[in-house]
Amino acid sequence: MGSQVFKPSANSVAQVAIICIAAGPLLVGLSLAALSRSPANTKVNVPKNQPVPFSHQHHNWELGIDCRYCHTSVEKSAFAGIPSTETCMSCHSQIWTNSPLLEPVRQSFETGTPIVWNKVNKVPDFVYFNHSIHVNRGLNCNTCHGPVNDMHITAKGNSFQMAWCLQCHRNPERYLGWSKDLHKEHPSDTPRQLAFKLYWKLQTKGKSNLSPAETILVNGNFEGADDQATKEAGREIVEKYGIKTQQLADCGVCHR
Ligand code: HEC
Ligand code: HEC
Ligand code: HEC
Ligand code: HEC
Ligand code: HEC
Repeated sequence: MGSQVFKPSANSVAQVAIICIAAGPLLVGLSLAALSRSPANTKVNVPKNQPVPFSHQHHNWELGIDCRYCHTSVEKSAFAGIPSTETCMSCHSQIWTNSPLLEPVRQSFETGTPIVWNKVNKVPDFVYFNHSIHVNRGLNCNTCHGPVNDMHITAKGNSFQMAWCLQCHRNPERYLGWSKDLHKEHPSDTPRQLAFKLYWKLQTKGKSNLSPAETILVNGNFEGADDQATKEAGREIVEKYGIKTQQLADCGVCHR
């Protein structure tokens, strides 16, 4: 592992020692993972072939279907979930019923065999990740997944390497305050509600009516804000939820 990844604090040294002593099998997994970590394997921005050419751009941005209509557990559990054929058929039993592109969906519905979607994003098994906590702190999906609202075929938006996770875990206030302008428009909304409201605003008002921070997010190249006002708004969220920034980069948070 690259030494630039770690701050040389006594704490992380102790944690590494604990991992080394307690987790032999984990370490084997970890070093195998390191082997497969070349840039060619990260596949950022490369659309992934799917059995049905499902377009987020079309369904989310143009039609305005909320992420939670299809990824029903994203606020409540570790996993976002992938929609069942029934969810697609709630519309496609009535519209576009003759589209050849939808033939696999109709087949799946008639035979009761689920569509096998190819997974786009994955962290190795030795890494713990949980959607609900991130979404409930007000992180918009695009922070991690890139410009989903623009994607015709879904691609990976970020490397999901450890250094990328840590960049935010070390300074979460740079990533949490993006919604400060949206918050002024919807003062009673929680950070979680604002995270979804960004897509609603995009759909109803268009790209040209977004704030600079919102524009960066819908374009999917948000790498944290450096201006004082946004960091201050981020700090307020850190305080409101009692986020323990000192411990967020500890090994045990993601490797349990
Ligand atoms: C109408 C249903 C529908 C809606 C609405 C929808 N999605 Fe999806 N999403 C899917 C389907 C089907 C897949 C699997 C195929 C694919 O990867 O494109 C998927 C895949 C994904 C993936 C990749 C999953 C993986 O394999 O790693 C991400 C990330 C994602 N969606 C994010 C979003 C976000 C963010 C929104 C809201 C802005 C959203 N989706 C709205 C149906 C939907
Ligand atoms: C809320 C309604 C709704 C849901 C749910 C929905 N779709 Fe659609 N979908 C549409 C509409 C409306 C269109 C086409 C509109 C247009 O092209 O103007 C469409 C178009 C499509 C097309 C393009 C068809 C063509 O011939 O161009 C595909 C493929 C598709 N949907 C797949 C899916 C899949 C897969 C799911 C489930 C994960 C899904 N849709 C769920 C409303 C929906
Ligand atoms: C902090 C980063 C982050 C945020 C924010 C985030 N995701 Fe993810 N997402 C991930 C990671 C990491 C994975 C891979 C998880 C794994 O392999 O277990 C993933 C996987 C997925 C998948 C694949 C299926 C699954 O459950 O693993 C879908 C769908 C998805 N995300 C949708 C969303 C939606 C919708 C949102 C916004 C409401 C969102 N994500 C917000 C990081 C994030
Ligand atoms: C853009 C910022 C951001 C990114 C990127 C991010 N996280 Fe987080 N993560 C947070 C914040 C903020 C919290 C703190 C939540 C709290 O304590 O309230 C958190 C908490 C967690 C937790 C603790 C969950 C719990 O149940 O206690 C885990 C595990 C985690 N993140 C894993 C990951 C992994 C793995 C990645 C990379 C694949 C990642 N995170 C990327 C911001 C981020
Ligand atoms: C915020 C989440 C997070 C924290 C905190 C974290 N890791 Fe990781 N770690 C990851 C992710 C994600 C990967 C998988 C990277 C990949 O697939 O490229 C990983 C991979 C690894 C690997 C495999 C080799 C590599 O670099 O890919 C080792 C070893 C490792 N972590 C050790 C540690 C140690 C030691 C600490 C504490 C100093 C730590 N990690 C803290 C998320 C985290």
